[in-house]
Amino acid sequence: MRRIDISTSGAILASLLAIVPSPASAFYFPGVAPTSYKNGDAVPLHVNHLTPADSQNDPKLRSVFSFDYYHPPFHFCKPKDGPQYIRESLGSILFGDRIQTSPFDLRMGINETCKALCPEETFSPQDAVFVNQRIYQGYDLNWLVDGLPAAQVFVEKDSDEPFYSPGFALGTVDGEEPNFNNHYDIYVDFHKAGPDQFRVVGVLVVPFSLKESRFIEEGRAECGDTAAAVALDENAETKVTFTYSVYWRENSTPFATRWDKYLHVYDPKIHWFSLVNSAVIVVFLIGMVSTILVRTLKKDIARYNRLDQLALDDFGETGGAGDDIQEDSGWKLVHGDVFRTPKNPLLLSVLIGNGAQLFMMAGLTIAFALLGFLSPSNRGALGTVVIVFYTLFGFIGGYVSSRVYKFFNGESWKLCFFYTPFALPVIVFATFFLLNLFVWGRGASGAVPFTTMLILVIIWFVISVPLSLAGSWFGFKQPVIEAPTRTNQIPRQIPPAVGYLRPFPSMALAGVLPFGAIFVELYFILKSIWFSKVYYMFGFLFICYGLMIMTSAAVTVLMIYFLLCAENYHWQWRSFFTAGASAFYVFASALLYWAKDVSFGSWTSGVLYLGYSLLLSLLFFVLTGTIGFFASWMFVIKIYRSIKVD
Ligand SMILES: *[C@@H]1O[C@H](CO)[C@@H](O)[C@H](O)[C@H]1NC(C)=O
Repeated sequence: MRRIDISTSGAILASLLAIVPSPASAFYFPGVAPTSYKNGDAVPLHVNHLTPADSQNDPKLRSVFSFDYYHPPFHFCKPKDGPQYIRESLGSILFGDRIQTSPFDLRMGINETCKALCPEETFSPQDAVFVNQRIYQGYDLNWLVDGLPAAQVFVEKDSDEPFYSPGFALGTVDGEEPNFNNHYDIYVDFHKAGPDQFRVVGVLVVPFSLKESRFIEEGRAECGDTAAAVALDENAETKVTFTYSVYWRENSTPFATRWDKYLHVYDPKIHWFSLVNSAVIVVFLIGMVSTILVRTLKKDIARYNRLDQLALDDFGETGGAGDDIQEDSGWKLVHGDVFRTPKNPLLLSVLIGNGAQLFMMAGLTIAFALLGFLSPSNRGALGTVVIVFYTLFGFIGGYVSSRVYKFFNGESWKLCFFYTPFALPVIVFATFFLLNLFVWGRGASGAVPFTTMLILVIIWFVISVPLSLAGSWFGFKQPVIEAPTRTNQIPRQIPPAVGYLRPFPSMALAGVLPFGAIFVELYFILKSIWFSKVYYMFGFLFICYGLMIMTSAAVTVLMIYFLLCAENYHWQWRSFFTAGASAFYVFASALLYWAKDVSFGSWTSGVLYLGYSLLLSLLFFVLTGTIGFFASWMFVIKIYRSIKVD
């Protein structure tokens, strides 16, 4: 249990009153109660997994695996009584954190130089090959001191503003030769909160590779100088002494804002640029759609209704049919078919139910994050919240799929009840499980533990499935949504489609717009996933999500209007695919990123990358497809309700 003390609650209240979330600045609640240390108190240093990192000079992604800190070939010193796992949240574990205790002995306010971590370690040639490869791939060590990540200082290129980037290098490549870092200068910034009350507000690590270091006795060593670096020999054994120094520096940053310098927004300009860009697209689209809705449709409807009236009058006066007033073309002609049950109504309903569930989850999670509830100091809060929301919104999924299925006059009720909670989760979980098998197979320790998987399955089965069934039942009990026109017995012939109305061109055209609204944020999200960095630009993401919804809806409605005008009434699947097509662009952009910024040494990394990209695209497909379907559904019902049909 995390304890929130009075001062934190006060801070939360104050922040709640002062909420003006600006997209450019990171906003969050402190989340964890501050710990105060007395002079000389032990400050815990925990170690997390090793992850591939992007340095400023080399932004390429070279691997997607993460390794346990105590993975044997690294030979990092262990605590005397063995490392212990620190308890973490579910989201934290799922996102790869493996936090353990370490042998570092940090005492508040007491500087130390050149302490030994453990007696000499011997690297065999195989270990050397392994570690050197990780150095070439640019792996980072990730430590936590009092919950705060140990960082390196980077300087923003444009503004010369320094910021902390979590993680520091396992080694450096000097020319061709990899140098292994075996000494760490740890700079801990502390803030004096009261008499003999000190709080950790910043942690920097500067690693060194010192060949001449010698172990003397427990805790004591003699450090070499930087003239000679440790190169692990791939043909013979190499002996390495691990050492560290600690420097405590007083700082004026209070505890509440200690995360600020870590949450650096790279290139705010590019976010703003993309926002403005998408906003322009949306305004343009909305303009087009409203022109069509307001002008064209109004005209259409007025004409149709006038024709009706004329036909009646004509009939009364001359007793004959006025053939000059035959309606010749347009969407009204398909009024007897537009609500005909589409092909595979069950599959479509299930997809839409799942899409609605995703939609709610994503929206609410982003909103929560935007309001600052998912503080980065609460490791894994984001992942946990995603799981909780997804589980709870099983109800929405069931309800929506059931109502849509009823609207489609579906008959296989039980199948609809059954497939809705199973379809997408089973696909997602199966993919996740298979990809994890690869990680296990690789021997990398970034694999999600089996027990965590089991917990996920149990949560889903015990909470999500019953909720979904309850939602389905509830939706089933609701009256059917009435179609405004009756469906004819005999399906109407559909004229052959031309040009951009054919399925593929229409999808390719329409899908690019929702994608355009999100692709910059998507790039940053992908990057933070692959480089295991915190993503916190939720202000931008929130706006992008809104823009994406609007673009998906607008562009689909537009397409469906053209489709109906061309007397094609198969709008249900078409609307789903038109908006969903943006997922193909998402996948294509993942491939493009691969071609440009990724260089994997092993095919397993590639499999993992492709697998997760496909999974993400699939989820995106279902999500945007559902938005497209709902927008079109409302549109179709609205326009056919406004005309008179005899
Ligand atoms: C510890 O080292 C830091 C950085 O070199 C220095 O600013 C500080 O005064 C030192 N503290 C003590 C107690 O010597």
